[in-house]
Amino acid sequence: MTMKIAILPGDGIGTEIMAEAVKVLNVLDLKFEMETAPVGGAAYEAKGHPLPESTLQLAKDADAVLFGAVGDWKYDKLERSLRPEQAILGLRKHLGLFANFRPAICYPQLTHASSLKPELVAGLDILIIRELTGDIYFGQPRGRRTAVDGHFPGADEAFDTMRYSKPEIERIAHVAFQAARLRNKRVTSVDKANVLETFQFWKDVVSEVHQQYPDVELDHMYVDNAAMQLVKAPKKFDVMVTGNMFGDILSDAAAMLTGSIGMLPSASLDKNNKGLYEPSHGSAPDIAGKGIANPLATILSAAMMLKFSLNQPEAAARIEAAVDAVLSQGLRTADIWSEGTQKVGTREMGDAVVAAITTTTKTIKG
Ligand code: IPM
Ligand code: MG
Repeated sequence: MTMKIAILPGDGIGTEIMAEAVKVLNVLDLKFEMETAPVGGAAYEAKGHPLPESTLQLAKDADAVLFGAVGDWKYDKLERSLRPEQAILGLRKHLGLFANFRPAICYPQLTHASSLKPELVAGLDILIIRELTGDIYFGQPRGRRTAVDGHFPGADEAFDTMRYSKPEIERIAHVAFQAARLRNKRVTSVDKANVLETFQFWKDVVSEVHQQYPDVELDHMYVDNAAMQLVKAPKKFDVMVTGNMFGDILSDAAAMLTGSIGMLPSASLDKNNKGLYEPSHGSAPDIAGKGIANPLATILSAAMMLKFSLNQPEAAARIEAAVDAVLSQGLRTADIWSEGTQKVGTREMGDAVVAAITTTTKTIKG
């Protein structure tokens, strides 16, 4: 069976890192039909919209979507609906990708790249599950108006709406408890129940769903404390589940614990496990075109795609083993380089992963 993958490289370093992931997919002896389409600023330039209808359709028709990154400061002045970020927000919304998996794993080879003390992060393996299609990101109403009350009636004001319905919280809670069952069976639900009605409700609903998972341990933590604990004792966590905005913030912090956001993949899944896979990092326009970006997060995102959406766990494991091998060989892109290791560019890193995969294949086949 041929697997259809929509390839959406996007902006900045997106095209460079995607080329390496595609190269890796192509040496796996699997049948893929890959089609590329513009997204983000690149799509705005080519077609006048960050998420053109043809790109959205391609993503809908595919078995999985591999996404690079979008965004560039040069689009900051565009009206909101035309900015590159709308592409990823639109894909999440139109494909119903409500469950976002953001693992933060500290590779033993990279313990010293972390800004935290090595003993705090050695062996770190946490999974942040972020609700991705609700909360203040998508809540209506939102907009600008003249204030009729508050501290300054008559002044211009802007507002967004934080809201969650019960089924939205229930389904992400199920995802978190089920993911925890495959790990250390502990879930921390992150909220702001001491202040926000939405997150008191979140906490109540997560507790209710928890009744169906007596084998999984649940605790609740306020988001400010969670941020503190992440930098104080991150290994205390197993699975964290939280809303869209808190998840956005905490997942960046968690990513950095591991030494480099350039290493971390992510998956955004719909209710049938169809998904969009993207590196956790952004488009890094400052280093775009220089051939120095780390392609490993995108390569590992392709592995996640094989595992979660395409039912190819063995191929995924081969990619993961190859990444581990190149790190053990001492190869490092600039973001994870340290004294005593060998600095390589984007393409060399991709080539090394390909070589590691093909050598193991030869060994297996004899
Ligand atoms: C992320 C990004 C996006 C978000 C932006 C690009 C819209 O920061 O995926 O974390 O805020 O969700
Ligand atoms: Mg973010």
